[in-house]
Amino acid sequence: TEWTTPLRYKPYHQWSKSYQDMLAAELEQSGWKLAFHIQPKTGLLNDPNGFSFYNEKWHLFYQAYPFGPVHGVKSWYHMVSDNLVDWEQHDYVLLPDSPYDSHGVYSGSAMTVEDKLFLMYTGNVRNEEWERHSYQLGAWMNTEMEVEKITEPLIDSPPAGYTHEFRDPQVFRYQNHYLMMIGAQTKNEKGAVLAYQSSNLTDWELLGELDYTTEEMGFMVECPNFVLVDGQPVLLFCPQGLDKDISSYQNIYPNMYVIGSSFNKETVSIENTSDLINLDEGFDIYATQAFQAPDGRVLSVGWIGLPEIDYPTFEEGWAHCLSIVKELSIKENHLYQKPVAEMQELRQNHQELQGSAQASDTLLSSPDSNVYELKLELNAGTSGSLYLFADKQNKEGLKISFDAKHDTISMDRSKAGIPFGESYGSTRTAALKRQDKLTLHIFADRSVCEVFVNDGYRVITSRVFVKDPQQTHIFLQGFEGDYTGDFWTLREMN
Ligand code: FRU
Repeated sequence: TEWTTPLRYKPYHQWSKSYQDMLAAELEQSGWKLAFHIQPKTGLLNDPNGFSFYNEKWHLFYQAYPFGPVHGVKSWYHMVSDNLVDWEQHDYVLLPDSPYDSHGVYSGSAMTVEDKLFLMYTGNVRNEEWERHSYQLGAWMNTEMEVEKITEPLIDSPPAGYTHEFRDPQVFRYQNHYLMMIGAQTKNEKGAVLAYQSSNLTDWELLGELDYTTEEMGFMVECPNFVLVDGQPVLLFCPQGLDKDISSYQNIYPNMYVIGSSFNKETVSIENTSDLINLDEGFDIYATQAFQAPDGRVLSVGWIGLPEIDYPTFEEGWAHCLSIVKELSIKENHLYQKPVAEMQELRQNHQELQGSAQASDTLLSSPDSNVYELKLELNAGTSGSLYLFADKQNKEGLKISFDAKHDTISMDRSKAGIPFGESYGSTRTAALKRQDKLTLHIFADRSVCEVFVNDGYRVITSRVFVKDPQQTHIFLQGFEGDYTGDFWTLREMN
């Protein structure tokens, strides 16, 4: 198919059921299909939206284009869970069917308000000249999971001085008001985050531009997400076109964060902010959303994928997945991300790992499939590598290397299967704090690898597309000294 603009914006009802069934069948047969990650029912998935807890269940929506692996006209797809690991596919719930969202139901958020779930999102509209108009829209979901759009926009245009690159509202309670953060672009094309306030969710008053950095944030900021973690304000955001001298990154667009000491609503500023930090040191994380759950935990989920990059699954008609759910915390002004405790519910067969690593290859395990959890504790006094998704001879595989001299960790995916996104490099390197032990906590899921380093001090995420399903070997190399660890096969999500 040639994905022309008219085809990408063809109304949903004009696509046949048999075509969608064919896409579903193709995904079903894919060797890269995920076992426990949220993936699209058909077509393309991008940003997580509306991550929330409502009516005793977890709710998570995602940006969906059901008809192919392209960014066509978007809707929200709804997933529901009791435990944050088993996600039930519910339905497409916000469709691009109103004059305010005809060209896409774009990203947004959700919040429980009394007995309903309030959804806020951006309606994307193009006119005849293909000029963009962005509306900020609302909807209510009830306990039957029926969603009803609010007919009139909550905010019908950007404020003076800003363009229609104006999207991804994040709504939350703050003291005795509702606050909303939204991605924006100034008339001279600089990225910004705007803050709004409301007392009734209908009338929104602009507080101003959020002050969280003195640097220029590229040409656009997407998916801003403000959250208090252990009492400290954290802003997660995706600056597009950020100057690499301001903060170094290699992905086409980075997902970054800053931590501050406090939030001052009067001046709309996050005070004493850190430098910009990469939220993930890998290749494929974008548009992360976090919220404070009623149980007090701050939970996050990201899109494992990036705009404008071709992935090998495009040939199979589908694209991308979401990350596992992570729990955020702060220690010594650094954000830690850990796999949510409920991930343990997926564990099946356990194997204890223990031994002495040698300079040459040490085979740790060769499971039947790349659907597992691996925890390793290694001597951080010597350098070494861990190979995942490796073949028998350890010629091909995903290489994770630790450099004891410089306290850095790298991931090299150049030999990990079908190459993609190579123009942005095949290696990523992150700095670590010096400590005696290196701990790696890894979730592998057929074509995804998420590595939590030193209790979540760093996270490195990558898609991996091995050509041969036998590439499941796990080797250690270097790391002189003893290692200990645990290996579990994991079940599929229910
Ligand atoms: C980020 C993004 C958002 C937008 C959505 C559209 O990936 O571009 O800014 O709302 O995707 O799908």
